[in-house]
Amino acid sequence: MAYTTGITDESKDIKDEIKALLHKRKAILLAHNYQRPEVQDIADLCGDSLELSIKASQTDAAVIVFCGVHFMAETASILCPDKKVILPVSNAGCPMADMITAKELRRKKEGLSKGKRVIVISYVNTTADIKAETDICCTSANVIQVVNSVDTSRQIFMTPDKNLAQYAIKHTGRNIVYWEGFCPVHNNLTVGQVREAKSAHPEALFLAHPECPPEILDLADEVKSTSGMIAYAGSSESREFIIGTEIGILHPLSKANPGKSFFPADPGMICSDMKKIGLREILTALQTMQPEVKVPREIREKAKGAVDRMLAIPSGDL
Ligand code: 13P
Ligand code: SF4
Repeated sequence: MAYTTGITDESKDIKDEIKALLHKRKAILLAHNYQRPEVQDIADLCGDSLELSIKASQTDAAVIVFCGVHFMAETASILCPDKKVILPVSNAGCPMADMITAKELRRKKEGLSKGKRVIVISYVNTTADIKAETDICCTSANVIQVVNSVDTSRQIFMTPDKNLAQYAIKHTGRNIVYWEGFCPVHNNLTVGQVREAKSAHPEALFLAHPECPPEILDLADEVKSTSGMIAYAGSSESREFIIGTEIGILHPLSKANPGKSFFPADPGMICSDMKKIGLREILTALQTMQPEVKVPREIREKAKGAVDRMLAIPSGDL
């Protein structure tokens, strides 16, 4: 399906139907900051991974329609086992989350332990199976606090994002062993592209996501989660920003900051999985109440501890 942002009469009808069905089903619609503009505009809440997890854990809605990717809907299912969690397109996945299996993680833990307990920190961009083998999760918004919450006598293993892990090492000084996974969208951004954007917009600040490689983060004025970028741009005196993350973020950035200008570091930073859900898919999902994402109990119970410990930070105690 083509990636459209236009508001047509048809989309207005669909929006009205979606709103009526959300009400009828006692459902809440959550959307990640990378979702298509028309999806973000109809959502009850847009946010980064941390905000969406918190909202999922607190909502009293009976149904959560999650417009994001599979691991996000799984996280909502882990936190809210009694709610129905719907991911309108079941194969909206995350290539980075699929870069490690539970078997590989178990083998890695065994190899590292040598008598002392290894603390596994998993980026929330992981499958429920990985979370079940994890001590504490983190997101791009809280990774530093999560690492700092771990006793300094512990060996930390971080998975799956090598770039997020290297960012954490740099800002905590901790010795962290990490998996060599990456987000293909962020990992492909090059120093040349950032330099080109900077010379085209010399007054602009460069905001980068910690999923970008270290040499990109070295060029950044600020390293932020997606919602961190929205908040930073709002409070900054700067009028222009170069954005080093998936281009879906340009919509909420521009909406929240009229009068400021946002330029993608690379207009090709598009996560095709984050673009799979459109208004029509949301409507069909609400009509059929499918596809549901439900994490099996034995996995969920183990995974929940890791997500709960993250949500308890800074009071988390490892
Ligand atoms: P945040 O919105 O949490 O910064 O995450 C970015 C991301 O890659 C989600 O898939
Ligand atoms: Fe996964 Fe990267 Fe897409 Fe986020 S942007 S869902 S990390 S592939």
